Amino acid sequence: MKRQILVVVTTILFSLSFDSVSARFFPNITGLPPLPFSKNGTLAPWDAFTKFAGCRSGEKRDGLAKLKQYFNEFGYIQNAPSNFSDDFDDELEKALRVYQQNFNLNVTGELDDQTLQKIVLPRCGNADIVNGTTSMNSGKSASFHTTKHFHTTEHFTFFPGTPRWPDHRQDLTYGFADQLTDEVKAVFARAFEKWSAVTPLTFTPTDSYILADIKIGFFTGDHGDGEPFDGVLGTLAHAFSPTNGRLHLDGAEDWVVAGDVRTSPLPSAVDLESVAVHEIGHLLGLGHSSDENAIMYPTISSRTRKVELGSDDVEGIQYLYGSNPNYNGSTSTTSTHERETSDGGVRDSISRWSLGVILTVGFGFVLL
Ligand SMILES: *[C@@H]1O[C@H](CO)[C@@H](O)[C@H](O)[C@H]1NC(C)=O
Ligand SMILES: *[C@@H]1O[C@H](CO)[C@@H](O)[C@H](O)[C@H]1NC(C)=O
Ligand SMILES: *[C@@H]1O[C@H](CO)[C@@H](O)[C@H](O)[C@H]1NC(C)=O
Ligand SMILES: *[C@@H]1O[C@H](CO)[C@@H](O)[C@H](O)[C@H]1NC(C)=O
Ligand SMILES: *[C@@H]1O[C@H](CO)[C@@H](O)[C@H](O)[C@H]1NC(C)=O
Ligand SMILES: *[C@@H]1O[C@H](CO)[C@@H](O)[C@H](O)[C@H]1NC(C)=O
Repeated sequence: MKRQILVVVTTILFSLSFDSVSARFFPNITGLPPLPFSKNGTLAPWDAFTKFAGCRSGEKRDGLAKLKQYFNEFGYIQNAPSNFSDDFDDELEKALRVYQQNFNLNVTGELDDQTLQKIVLPRCGNADIVNGTTSMNSGKSASFHTTKHFHTTEHFTFFPGTPRWPDHRQDLTYGFADQLTDEVKAVFARAFEKWSAVTPLTFTPTDSYILADIKIGFFTGDHGDGEPFDGVLGTLAHAFSPTNGRLHLDGAEDWVVAGDVRTSPLPSAVDLESVAVHEIGHLLGLGHSSDENAIMYPTISSRTRKVELGSDDVEGIQYLYGSNPNYNGSTSTTSTHERETSDGGVRDSISRWSLGVILTVGFGFVLL
């Protein structure tokens, strides 16, 4: 009832029709329901793309138009026509090359296996390239790509115009559109903590969703912001650039809020805290990073936990806001190796999820 009232008010405020939903939460792995789809995850939205293996310029394949839509959604193809053709044309090859550059793949311009394995991973809904402004690797200088010194080079990016929360708004409140358990709220509190530990920003929960600086909600399908969710896996969440404050999560995901997501029997299990930390990065002004160890890397596999900021994330956020006086630099000196080890060694290249940055032109906001 309360939620419905909130939804009505939200609708009036934004003239949008949000459908707030109850997300599926799994507090522990013993509480998991039966598998909703095959063990191979064949219902994940982008899995069909694997049939394009080996496809290259000049060919025509049924369904290639859908791949173009994918590249359009994440910023690699601008100015979408009313419909795309199924031709592997120059536009698709160009998009593919930029994508391969951004994800540290061999730039072949063909749909090779490594590229397809990356494309089908769950990811952030925000686009990698916002409004045609190149970001991630493809926005860096050519010499950068040949040096291979990726781990000593900045990869963090910002939204166009580098929006940030202004100095007089650095003690931010956050509220939820849904009635959530304390356990779920605690996940978000921990996620905010990652960012407040390294910046002067503070985050305080509030009961007023409407008045909160940061508005968090679980939605399914089309929820009124022009960036519909797509069901299990595919896009997991998105968030707007400062100072919009909206953070949306796909209510259709099998969100794990406690317990070890890596041992979940559910192939589609997604770690809520990992996604929350990433999306908060967008809310604060960070775009996607090509550094696989960064929280702001666009993809994450299901059954993967990744909640610690990488040095790239810390450098990026401190560029915008400066450091927390109590921050002693321990995060930024954590080596890549240490963080990989703390991942528990689960680094299946097929199951990494990617988060994207989306531009909602209609509102002039950027979504993750
Ligand atoms: C795990 O979930 C089940 C079902 O939701 C519940 O009955 C049980 O108490 C939970 N166990 C723990 C340790 O939280
Ligand atoms: C999953 O897919 C692989 C390759 O497509 C196939 O070999 C395997 O049998 C499938 N497993 C299940 C459980 O369907
Ligand atoms: C899509 O474009 C093709 C030509 O490229 C055209 O034949 C077809 O009618 C178009 N479909 C729609 C729904 O616009
Ligand atoms: C790039 O190509 C080389 C040589 O074919 C191969 O060994 C390597 O695994 C490829 N790297 C990626 C990321 O695909
Ligand atoms: C995107 O580009 C258009 C045209 O260049 C511009 O009017 C608009 O403000 C840009 N939006 C953002 C979010 O940068
Ligand atoms: C930095 O802070 C962390 C956590 O507060 C602490 O564990 C670590 O010992 C500190 N390192 C130094 C060099 O003070």
